[in-house]
Parts: sequence; structure tokens; C-alpha cells
Amino acid sequence: MAGKLILGIETSCDDTAAAVVRDGKDMLSNIVSSQNEIHKKYGGVVPEIASRKHIEVINIVIKEAINKAGVKIGDIDAVSVTNRPGLIGSLLVGLGAAKAISYAQGIPLITVNHLKAHIYSNILINSKIKGNFLGLIVSGGHTSLYFIDNNWKISEIGHTVDDAAGEAFDKIARYLKLGYPGGPIIDKLSKKGDPSFIDFPRPMLDSGDLNFSFSGLKTALIYKTKKNKGLLKKENLNDLAASFQKAIVDVLIEKTINACKQYGCRDILISGGVAANSRLREDFKEICKKENIKLYAPPLWLCMDNAVMVACLGYYELVSGNVSDLSADVYSRSDL
Ligand code: KG4
Ligand code: ZN
Repeated sequence: MAGKLILGIETSCDDTAAAVVRDGKDMLSNIVSSQNEIHKKYGGVVPEIASRKHIEVINIVIKEAINKAGVKIGDIDAVSVTNRPGLIGSLLVGLGAAKAISYAQGIPLITVNHLKAHIYSNILINSKIKGNFLGLIVSGGHTSLYFIDNNWKISEIGHTVDDAAGEAFDKIARYLKLGYPGGPIIDKLSKKGDPSFIDFPRPMLDSGDLNFSFSGLKTALIYKTKKNKGLLKKENLNDLAASFQKAIVDVLIEKTINACKQYGCRDILISGGVAANSRLREDFKEICKKENIKLYAPPLWLCMDNAVMVACLGYYELVSGNVSDLSADVYSRSDL
């Protein structure tokens, strides 16, 4: 079979995922086993449970990815795995599986950065995308802005100083007893709500830098609803959700557009779980059209954690000679 076949493995948080991608662009399979149902009752990811669940399903998920791709393990040219940043116990499961396959098959092991993989997910839907663009990665664990130059050198130019945007959605959903993960639930309620119901603060808009902060916004909602319990009535829930969501979306968009102008970019690329938010996507589309900026927003399944993006980035690391070995380790935090 022509082309390089990369097996991608992703276990950095609570999704066990494997995928086979040819030449960094043709997806042959994409398997994701979600642990949402398990963590739901705790209102968030419990790291110890996450790593145990990864162990239970990792081999099944990898086998399924290879079968669905219609290939054999012996056809795989390299194995690419997320080894940073993420939950240590979870990352170790993926790395252990990748090392075993690399050793047994005698194929290269590539260790990749999860956030860089989110950025590369856009190549799958648009392989012509050139450098010099602005990237916003917004998920349950991260909210960061990146400048990607013409050589695809990625520099972080802003980040959250406390909670990630997805974390704020998840925490507020837990406070409102709506369920987990909170982002999609708040997104759904907001569709029927009035975003001007409560004028929440837009934190950090005047901070003079490109950083974010969402912890105060979360506190503002809790404070307002404790002071006025009527806000928590069922008939106000959609409006409350829509107002909270709009405050997050406004900040994410304004900061990203500012960064785009500051760095002289004409393209914006968004990814990560919160990039699936319908209000964020719609508002981004509108403002980018007005500002004559091209917006790259991957389909929803590609915004969430997956191994397709890990295999895609793995291909580019492989052809650049960035290969790892069996001494590779995992890291809870990591710069790009
Ligand atoms: O990228 P991801 O799958 O995992 C991490 O790397 O964190 O993102 C998960 C996060 C969760 O916080 C979830 O609530 C949020 O993405 N999320 C959303 C939406 N779908 C997922 N947030 C807002 N609106 C959505 N539609
Ligand atoms: Zn992610």
C-alpha cells in the first residue's frame, strides 16, 4: 500500500482513542471510547479512574482502529502517541501501548504534544493551509493563543491565568446540577435563551495582554444566583446559560481577533472541545467575514479529543526526523 501509514494513540485525558491516517491527511479509521458516562457522577474527570479505564479498553480500541482501516498491524509504518500535556496516569497508558507496538513491530515511535495535535487537526480538512496564522486552542484543560509562522513554528502568545474556558463551562454546569461535560449542555440550553438576560463581566478584555481568566466569571454567576435565588428557577435557566456562554464567547473572540491584528495574520484556526460551541462558531464566522479574516474551524468530531490529529501530526514529525525511542516519558505540562 502506497504512502505512510501512521497509527495514532490518544489517552491524555478521559478519551481512549486510536486512528490510522495515511500521509498525514487520509483518515482510514477513527475510534474514540469516551468515559463521559463514568465521570458524569463526579461532575468532572477523576484522574485515577480515567487511567484505569484506559487500561481496560486501550488494546480493544487500537485493534478496532487497525481493523476498521482495513490494514494489518504489520502494514503500520510508525506509531504516534500523545505524551504531553495531560494526566500523568492516563498518558502513561497510551505511551506504554505505543512503546509495545513500536518494539514488537520494529517501527518508529513518535511522541507528540496534544495541543500541537489540536492545531494540526486542521490540516486534515485543509491540507493547503499555509503558515502565518493565529491559533486558538480552547478545551477543558487549555485556553491558549498561538502564532504559527510561515515555517509552522508555533509560539504561545497568550493563555488562561486560571480556569480554562471548558473548565468554566463544566464547573458552572456542575453548580447548576446540569450534568457533565457542561459545555454541550450549556450550549444546548443557550439556544433557547436570551444572552442579554444578565450582563456578566467580560474578564481581561482590558488587560493589555493576550491572556484569559475565567475563574471570576464563574464566581460572578455563583454570587448573583446566591444573592437572587429566583435566577435559578427552571424558567430562567436557558437565559442564565445563554448569558454565561455569551460572556465566555465574547472574550474568546475579541482576544483572538486582537491577537490576529497584532500579529498581522489573515487566518484564524480554532480547535479543542470548546471550539465545538455553536455560539462561538457562529459569532466567529460573522466577525471574520466582517474583518475579512479566513476562519478554519474543524468539524465537531475533530474539535474533541481524538487520535486522528495525533496520527496526522505524527506523520509530519516523522518526515522531519523527530522520532523518539523507548526511553520516552510523559509530562503533565509542556510548552509546544
Ligand atoms: O478537547 P476536549 O475534548 O478535551 C480536553 O482536552 O479538555 O475538550 C473537552 C471540553 C469540556 O470542558 C467540554 O465541556 C467542552 O470541551 N465542550 C464544549 C462543547 N463541547 C465540548 N464547550 C462548549 N460548547 C460545546 N458545544
Ligand atoms: Zn484536547
